[in-house]
Amino acid sequence: MTKVNFVILAAGKGTRMRSALPKVLHKLSGRSMLGHVVAAVESLGEAKKIIVTGHGAEQVEQQFKSPTTIFIQQKKQLGTGHAVHMAVPELCSDAVVIVLYGDVPLIRPATIQKILAVVTESTMGLLTINLDQPTGYGRIVRNTSGDITEIIEQKDASAEQLKITEVNTGVLALQSSQLRDWLPKITNNNAQGEYYLTDLVAIAREAGIEVISVNPESATEVEGVNHRVHQRQLAEVLMESGTSLADPARFDQRGELSAGTDNFIDINCVFNGSVTIGSNVSIGANCQISDSTIGDGVSILPNTIIESSVVGDRAVVGPFARLRPGTEMGSDTKVGNFVETKKTLVGKGSKINHLSYVGDAQLGENVNIGAGTITCNYDGVSKHKTDLGDGVFVGSNSTLVAPIKVDKGGFIAAGSTVTTKVPSDSLAVGRAKQRNIKGWKRPTKKEV
Ligand code: UD1
Ligand code: CA
Repeated sequence: MTKVNFVILAAGKGTRMRSALPKVLHKLSGRSMLGHVVAAVESLGEAKKIIVTGHGAEQVEQQFKSPTTIFIQQKKQLGTGHAVHMAVPELCSDAVVIVLYGDVPLIRPATIQKILAVVTESTMGLLTINLDQPTGYGRIVRNTSGDITEIIEQKDASAEQLKITEVNTGVLALQSSQLRDWLPKITNNNAQGEYYLTDLVAIAREAGIEVISVNPESATEVEGVNHRVHQRQLAEVLMESGTSLADPARFDQRGELSAGTDNFIDINCVFNGSVTIGSNVSIGANCQISDSTIGDGVSILPNTIIESSVVGDRAVVGPFARLRPGTEMGSDTKVGNFVETKKTLVGKGSKINHLSYVGDAQLGENVNIGAGTITCNYDGVSKHKTDLGDGVFVGSNSTLVAPIKVDKGGFIAAGSTVTTKVPSDSLAVGRAKQRNIKGWKRPTKKEV
């Protein structure tokens, strides 16, 4: 493969977003805009990246420091041509250079490859799009044979040129040696008094280099960023891959989500970090799932929160369940309403159906945890484990004081406080015996 150097412009302030945070660090679906660009670049393999910083340079450097990244600070933003010029000393002389933008985060790796593919010794690549509303963009000027001759910025364009609907995305690719020779020829003799990178196109023509246009698959890759638009794109991808959404406008993906087929997701669900969903999964309204794996045929009922957990095939979770980090539900298991779990393995076929806290525990297969069971895993200093063997039955409202072990088939009477090991197939009754006091008088209200 050809050697590639990336120059990513990220010096701008972004005056439209009222914030102290540099524009390129604003988040889109859980990742900074510049992070999206860097991820796209890195997905193509190892390559040198030169990031031109300006506003908030220190913050940007801190977040993107890496062995393959070089930062160049552009103290005054004198134009895109000036910004790229600053990166020249860092470019490898035998590389192809691609210019990208920290505030154009949705560019796809396939589009980057497409533009790379047209660059030769005698051609440069330019990413353009056609827009019904081209206002603000640089216009692509072509001669009668259809060859690109120059780019005219909005503020420098004639009335005739303003009618052109093919516009410059800013993304271009060419030989490093040509870039190095041509950048010094750019002047700031224009309506904005800026060094325009776009002047490279006319300079290339004069040098006998053909400018070849390439189009992204979708204009949304290079259009202005907007959280809702991006969410809509992610929803589209998910729906195309076989998951139906009750309402794509009420779906939020803030990370990576991969899903099988025949799934249904109801409204207002949020997916954070890295989430994997199998097939035939149904997710009710208002669920939040972060960094977790959900098996096939799982049913997640409304208002459930799942974090750093694994849910086995055909499990049923919720409504109103909370799986905290380290929960692993086996296949055919159930965790019902108002149940909180943490660092707990729930063996195949086991059930925790109502109102319980189960933490630092291991449940064998076909264990039944009665309503209101609490694992007392914390003694104020350390955490301790609860270990329940296969087929254990825990009666309602029991407290299991850890460390505790209940062997296979053990049975705990309702309302017990269990503090010592229960042998297999035994009944543990850990409560005071009931006394009925005959003729007992209820307290009466005393006059004061
Ligand atoms: C630029 C293009 C225009 C194109 C449009 C697409 C030029 C002269 N014009 O215009 O043809 O249609 O992008 O969005 O290139 N930047 C720096 N340092 C600078 C100046 C800019 O890092 O000195 C960065 C900005 O942070 C921004 C990007 O470069 O990310 C584009 O700069 P901006 O001034 O917004 O260019 P446009 O006017 O949008
Ligand atoms: Ca209780």
